[in-house]
Amino acid sequence: MVSHSGLLTVIERAARKVAPQLRRDFGEVQHLQVSRKGPADFVSVADKKAENTLVQELRKARPDWGFLLEEGGEIEGDPMKPRWVIDPLDGTSNFLHGIPHFAISIAVQEPRRDGRGWGEVTTGLIYQPITDESYWAEKSRGAWRHDQRLRVSARRDLSEALVATGIPFLGHGDLAQFSRIFGAIAPSVAGIRRFGAATLDLAWVASGRFDGFWESGLQPWDVQAGILLVREAGGFVTDFRGGSEPVERREILAGNDIMHSKLHKLLAGSLRNA
Ligand code: IPD
Ligand code: CA
Ligand code: CA
Ligand code: CA
Repeated sequence: MVSHSGLLTVIERAARKVAPQLRRDFGEVQHLQVSRKGPADFVSVADKKAENTLVQELRKARPDWGFLLEEGGEIEGDPMKPRWVIDPLDGTSNFLHGIPHFAISIAVQEPRRDGRGWGEVTTGLIYQPITDESYWAEKSRGAWRHDQRLRVSARRDLSEALVATGIPFLGHGDLAQFSRIFGAIAPSVAGIRRFGAATLDLAWVASGRFDGFWESGLQPWDVQAGILLVREAGGFVTDFRGGSEPVERREILAGNDIMHSKLHKLLAGSLRNA
């Protein structure tokens, strides 16, 4: 039995506090107040309530840490201390359509030593309230689902690979670029899935359910915990050029070493030929 650090206990406790609230709201989703942040970018009272509860709980445990929140934006804390990067409800569209595939994502990001901005992510949790699955990782301590150590898949052959992605939607993302990449990858793999929660796409790469994942346009709260999970599970995560800036460039490609390199070849080829 593995025991995680005190910090993870704090994070998991906060996520578990929010989970019943999210399950209740999910059960009464037709009555929830929903507004739009963009043409097809929805936010509900459930997203906001979940975020507020997480902020309250985490603040009790670490009063001087700042936040980067999907709904509330940035809240400054002590610049020498880490900050929380939070997506209180990843998969809002699924949630609002009664599809039980969504998660809470919480990452801990350290300040850079030179005091300029934010650096390494050292802890991450992705919690799925409906299935009660808890994925967590700590830097150099591995990736886990509850007390089971996670490894990325061992598949080496693209023709056996099940790969996840995200598809641009109304008012969001570069559909032409997506179509080029999709056209290059789809004929070579066994299957492609678009389940609508990037945090879980990454957690499922870490756990070997998916052999790879690519998407563009994601935000730090969508990926920070998941990137740590995939890397701690022995996988590779880069931007589309193979570089080390998937968050800054808002392009993410993840998989085991062989899958990552094969998918990267197809993806980079499709962008070169554009
Ligand atoms: C969305 C999901 C989705 C991805 C979108 C994200 P949200 O997050 O992760 O899979 O394709 O780009 O915005 O809004 O449901 O938290
Ligand atoms: Ca959103
Ligand atoms: Ca999200
Ligand atoms: Ca969200």
